[in-house]
Amino acid sequence: MIKNIGIIGGGTMGSGIAQVAAAAGCSVKLFDTNSEALGKAKASLEKIMNRLVEKGRIDASEKSRIEENIQYVNTLKDLADSDLTIEAIIENLEIKKKVFQELESFVSEKCIIASNTSSLSIASIAASLKDPSRCVGIHFFNPAPLMKLVEVIPAIQTSKATLKTSEETIKNWGKVVAIAKDTPGFIVNRVARPFYGESLRIYEEGIADFITIDSALKTKGGFRMGPFELMDFIGNDVNYTVTETVFEAFYYDPRYKPAFTQKRFAEAGYLGRKSGKGYYEYDESGQMSVR
Ligand code: NAI
Repeated sequence: MIKNIGIIGGGTMGSGIAQVAAAAGCSVKLFDTNSEALGKAKASLEKIMNRLVEKGRIDASEKSRIEENIQYVNTLKDLADSDLTIEAIIENLEIKKKVFQELESFVSEKCIIASNTSSLSIASIAASLKDPSRCVGIHFFNPAPLMKLVEVIPAIQTSKATLKTSEETIKNWGKVVAIAKDTPGFIVNRVARPFYGESLRIYEEGIADFITIDSALKTKGGFRMGPFELMDFIGNDVNYTVTETVFEAFYYDPRYKPAFTQKRFAEAGYLGRKSGKGYYEYDESGQMSVR
């Protein structure tokens, strides 16, 4: 029975995953090395909950139940009693490995240690553990509370029991599970890389500006967001790192080549929604406008 959930990283994804698990009745501990991130996660959850109450989707008692199910903690050790931990920190293999090793030194033998990585190999993360069979990829999409799909990725070391429990847990949280092999980008990000990549090339070749590209894909393609809006939503830093990792992991296959525009936006700190400026501009309330 998976009841106690530890989430590592309280940014965009970690805070969303915490909300999903808390809404499903789990007791969640959310850890981040940056206390400001935890404060932001708490404030953002409250805002979301208030909106849901206003819209009549949940009542006040449901709101308090979800909020009370999440504890914001300042040390990794606070996650010691977890049945399942999901890591959603920076997309960097060495840093993730260190966190996993530390975590394994105090959680129970039965605790499943999962990563929400978009592009790193689960086998390489699992290899950092003494018991790699407890490691699995559990990949949510942004925003985690709204996106139905979750990819569950067994590494070659992952045990059948770990996979089964992970799959059942995520289904119990109301999500649709797609099991994917441990290959770069799994399913969705593999398809998505050329989508962003080709849009960036169209922009760089001067064929159309990004407003026109977004508008064309929304109007004709039926996409809810165009590629540039979506990159701003994901975070241009996160999206660039994922593109670079998938490109390298496919032995530099040009289909996945990152674009300089993407790199420059990340370097400039034009991260998108989270920094208030990306391909578009965003005000305090999140309202998007053309820069
Ligand atoms: P983010 O930048 O919004 O949040 C990352 C958080 O991790 C930050 O609050 C940071 O303070 C914290 N952190 C960094 N190092 C830490 C450590 N050692 N221990 C504890 N906390 C630490 O990033 P985001 O977007 O939430 O991404 C997190 C992970 O989820 C990445 O692996 C990313 O590839 C993956 N992902 C991202 C998606 C997206 O659309 N942004 C979608 C699906 C997966």
